[in-house]
Amino acid sequence: MKFNYQGIQIFVKDSYEAISEKSAQIVAAQIILKENSVLGLATGSTPIGMYERLVKMYEEGKIDFSEITCFNLDEYYKLKPENEQSYSYYMDKYLFSKVNILSENIYIPSGITDDIEGVCRKYDEEIVNHGNIDLQVLGIGNNGHIGFNEPDIRFEAGTHLVQLDEETIKANARFFDSIDLVPRQAISMGIRNIMHSKKILLLANGENKAKILEKMLFEDVTPNIPASILQLHNDVTIVIDELAAKYIKHRL
Ligand code: F6R
Repeated sequence: MKFNYQGIQIFVKDSYEAISEKSAQIVAAQIILKENSVLGLATGSTPIGMYERLVKMYEEGKIDFSEITCFNLDEYYKLKPENEQSYSYYMDKYLFSKVNILSENIYIPSGITDDIEGVCRKYDEEIVNHGNIDLQVLGIGNNGHIGFNEPDIRFEAGTHLVQLDEETIKANARFFDSIDLVPRQAISMGIRNIMHSKKILLLANGENKAKILEKMLFEDVTPNIPASILQLHNDVTIVIDELAAKYIKHRL
């Protein structure tokens, strides 16, 4: 089912597999139409199925990553790339080691640094030097975060060091052996980086995302619901399942 709500395209699918298929098709179309696309990528559990399908399309010769550049949204502070919970490790595992992307075209903010400000400014510069992101893939946190832009009193513009919310730490504890091992800080692209992307693709599945999706679309734009800023972007596609669409479907 497809809806258009205030210019935002919303696809409601009946399963996680169908979300993964649809989102992979959207990313593949971007890659086919512009071979040197700049992609903004997310980690977390939601896009794993999408990455699996993109790898399959690559193996079947349908898409080529040789001219693609990727910028990841975020990385845990002080987690080394070889740490299995790092987002570097995740991206390698699910996508980068399985397709023909060039290592020099992969950008992930480095959490291993004493010059956090320098790393952040350089990341912003690299994104701008690449002409900004063509297609930014996003998940959404239960608290409305996109990237690791947590609810706050203001929108953070560029790449920055974030203090993770208790809710985010709890939600992400499932990827670690214990909640104590979840890093308390991360480096994240800011809202300006995300909003300067030419297209946005946001994915969500499961009932635990239903309330926040309703808030993001129907409440006023506020830094307290970071994803609400997407109401002001002119090219947003949302791909969700029936469970996540529970509170919005009847309002579309
Ligand atoms: C991941 C990221 C986060 C996740 C969000 C949802 O790079 O920036 O915003 O997209 O926390 O995570 P999942 O998909 O695990 O529910």
